[in-house]
Amino acid sequence: MSRIHEALKRAEEQRPSAWKPAEPTPFGVAGGEGGSASAVSRALYSPKWGEIPAPGRRLRLEELRQRSSKPGWKLNPDYDAFSPQHSSALCAEQFRTLRSRLYRLKEKSPLRTLVVTSTLPGEGKTFVALNLALAIARQHERRALLIDADLRASRIHVGLGAPSAPGLSDYLSGKADEFSILQADPKVELFLVPAGKPVPNPSELLANGMLKSFIDGVSPVFEWVIVDTPPVLAVADAGIIAEFCDGVMVVVRANKTPHDLVKTTLQEFRGNNLLGVVLNDASEGANYGGYSFRAGFGTDKK
Ligand SMILES: Nc1ncnc2c1ncn2[C@@H]1O[C@H](COP(=O)(O)OP(=O)(O)OP(=O)(O)O)[C@@H](O)[C@H]1O
Ligand SMILES: [Mg+2]
Repeated sequence: MSRIHEALKRAEEQRPSAWKPAEPTPFGVAGGEGGSASAVSRALYSPKWGEIPAPGRRLRLEELRQRSSKPGWKLNPDYDAFSPQHSSALCAEQFRTLRSRLYRLKEKSPLRTLVVTSTLPGEGKTFVALNLALAIARQHERRALLIDADLRASRIHVGLGAPSAPGLSDYLSGKADEFSILQADPKVELFLVPAGKPVPNPSELLANGMLKSFIDGVSPVFEWVIVDTPPVLAVADAGIIAEFCDGVMVVVRANKTPHDLVKTTLQEFRGNNLLGVVLNDASEGANYGGYSFRAGFGTDKK
């Protein structure tokens, strides 16, 4: 076990139960290069007035299972760290490690809803959110909900090979109900809310209270609710969502994101609900001293 693993283990053992991290905890790194896949689209469900359930009402698992759509996802190997085509077996292993670290944090403090964000576009937020959700849902009797709240450049549906609509934007603008935006897969206990149709006012919609109510209503059914968001530097959306989620995970792409910009991002969430940093696309053994990461998650590329 590496020195970093040991230090993390010690820190988690010493952490008091009502722990609120002031400093980011290095979760680790995932690695490799990727591409894209085509999205499938589906007709927008238009509920009649009065048919949409009251926002925030508690939803039951059986109801979710029955009423969510099952479009049959086709995972894009470029986004799937568990695919045999992926460049690194180590990468999949690191997602399992990330998963178990999050479970250990959950034992110490209430933690269920998780925002994944980063400073700049293209750092791997979607890649990390998707693979973490898959890592959770592929365990026996573990259930995760993945929400694509990047209403500006949504990609989760591309990674999962899922229809992009109806989705969150349609729900937040009152054009779809909770069930019509939920997708499920019979094989894994993963549920998805895709981003939905493009809208001109994403920040307004995300702040209108409906997403918070939706998450409050649906989260008791899941071990984890993972929310993919846009980059922090460009727009306020991730900050808005973080206000009503339990924790924030910041993705940093190795050798890409300038250190001072990362510090600004961490500052935004520090003292609030910053859980830690995932160093993405790192080479194993490289020196990332600035972030105090060296090994752990990473590719086996040199
Ligand atoms: N660790 C990794 N290994 C392999 N490919 C990766 C890795 N991280 C990211 N990628 C690839 O890099 C590209 C950008 O990643 P991703 O879409 O997850 O970034 P993002 O931060 O969500 O971007 P945006 O800000 O545009 O939403 C994708 O093609 C993805 O497959
Ligand atoms: Mg993304």
